[in-house]
Amino acid sequence: MTFIHKYPKAAKVSKANFIVAFIALAIGGFFGFIQALHRTDVFRGFVNSGEYYTLLTGHGVLLALIFTTFFIAGLFVWGVTRSLDREPENMAYTWSWFWLMVIGTVMAAFTILGGLVPDSSIRAAVLYTFYPPLQAHPAFYIGLAMVVVGSWMAAADWFWSYSKWRDDNPTERIPILSFMTLFTMLMWYVCTIGLAIEVVGLLIPWSLGWVVEIEPLLPRTLFWFFGHAVVYFWLLPAYYVWYAILPKLSGGRLFSDSMTRIVFIIFLLLSTPVGYHHQYADAGISVGFKFYAMATTMMLLLPSLMTLFTVIASMEHGAKQRGGKGYFAWISKLPWNNPAFVGCALAGIMFAAGGFSGMINAGMNINLLIHNTIWIPGHFHLTVGTAVALTFMAVTYWLLPQLTGRKLKFKTLALIQPYSWFLGMTLMSNAMHRAGLAGVPRRTAEPEFNTNAMNFEPIFGTMSEMKWQIAIGGTILLISLILFLWVVISSWMAGQKSEKPVDDHIPEPLSGVEHTPAILDNMKLWFALALILVVLAYSFPLWEMIQDGIFSPGALPR
Ligand code: HEM
Ligand code: CU
Repeated sequence: MTFIHKYPKAAKVSKANFIVAFIALAIGGFFGFIQALHRTDVFRGFVNSGEYYTLLTGHGVLLALIFTTFFIAGLFVWGVTRSLDREPENMAYTWSWFWLMVIGTVMAAFTILGGLVPDSSIRAAVLYTFYPPLQAHPAFYIGLAMVVVGSWMAAADWFWSYSKWRDDNPTERIPILSFMTLFTMLMWYVCTIGLAIEVVGLLIPWSLGWVVEIEPLLPRTLFWFFGHAVVYFWLLPAYYVWYAILPKLSGGRLFSDSMTRIVFIIFLLLSTPVGYHHQYADAGISVGFKFYAMATTMMLLLPSLMTLFTVIASMEHGAKQRGGKGYFAWISKLPWNNPAFVGCALAGIMFAAGGFSGMINAGMNINLLIHNTIWIPGHFHLTVGTAVALTFMAVTYWLLPQLTGRKLKFKTLALIQPYSWFLGMTLMSNAMHRAGLAGVPRRTAEPEFNTNAMNFEPIFGTMSEMKWQIAIGGTILLISLILFLWVVISSWMAGQKSEKPVDDHIPEPLSGVEHTPAILDNMKLWFALALILVVLAYSFPLWEMIQDGIFSPGALPR
């Protein structure tokens, strides 16, 4: 039976989450296009340079925070429901977390867009990192806090289903889809502690005027307590798709169950203690702590390299089932005409490139070369902007028939979509990396660098070329996004109803759960270890930081 017929309630929840995610993607993506044009210093008519920061805030918040969170919620509802074979325990509870997140999103979006209304006092041009002393309207912080509380409730919903399932199945191993969900959410619980303290304890009181002083360093540190792990909150659901679904799309089976579980455990343990690697350039943090963060960050390469190995091994297995041969020739036997497969595979290739630029970011000394340059957006459009976003779009092509009972329309357009995203991102991201090496800053409406983008001679190798590549890449990306939305909306509204059940079978791994040590499923143990590692990494530096007052250093004992 197709998912929608077997679990109609969960299907509704998943779809509702996807709708919000895609609206955020559409608006945020459009803003990205305007930014890419604006930075050429030619196409600047759409917004003025002040409004640029409003768009950039909208872009970062709607894509990196809202699109991801809602898509992940929809995906996890689907996975938990099918792998535990039970609908959510209490629909009123389930809908309450969804609506809490929606109301929070609307509040935050409203304050951001206020920046486009002349003389409006409701503003939030603080970018998605909201570093003080940039200040937003309180509704911005309260809205974001509501989204986070909603996501905690969503996680609790999945743990609730799991504990009910556990009562009925006391000796079974945690099904792999649920395992990946629960470990991702455990990590989310750990890292959002920092964000909650920052927003509720510091930013909301300050934006309401209850306290007048704020220092930059403590909120930044609490933000990055959350801010590195959040990238794995985006990425692990993409891994989830690569582990659970991509092997099937390639015609094969997951390589190893235990490897998958180990990778998720390592991410739970190491994602949060590395946050200082975003603060190498911040004064006020002792260099030893930064060095510790660098060492742990380099260790985090391990689970990503393990993923590379497992996913490629699974794809090779799939291709060989389809008649592929040789060391490399099998690649041509992969289903390069299936949009869901192509999107995931190209996302994975881009992620490898993003991993390399990430290693540069992570090095304490070489980081200074690229810090706060446009190299950084170059890097994360490969990771979250492609590895995550393109995987999510691709898996939508596979999930949509299961959730709606309708067939995908416009298969050719759907196939062009991931290839065009790949092309657009290659141009945009490559140029961002190169411009960053030359010192072009990020987060600015006017990265002039004494060029005239209309000056075509000699253009290659110049700053003009890079600006043009960013603008052309951004335009191709917007076209790709429109293709995606077109395919999804028309299939959803008018796709042919399919009588036959959709093929949603996920085959067992090659090396199955019977080879997986039981200790890997011990959630309490891994969660406790994760907390200990966080305390080790954060307690001393935070203690050092609050010695001279929490809101404003030097102001207390006069
Ligand atoms: C920043 C373009 C898609 C996340 C930027 C910037 C550009 C851009 C030009 C740099 C602005 C600056 O630093 O001044 C685009 C285009 C996209 C796209 C054309 C496709 C239509 C995405 C996606 C994500 C994303 C899918 C994440 C899921 C971000 C974030 C920033 C950013 C987090 C940094 C914002 C900040 O610095 O506060 N984008 N982008 N973008 N983009 Fe995108
Ligand atoms: Cu990081």
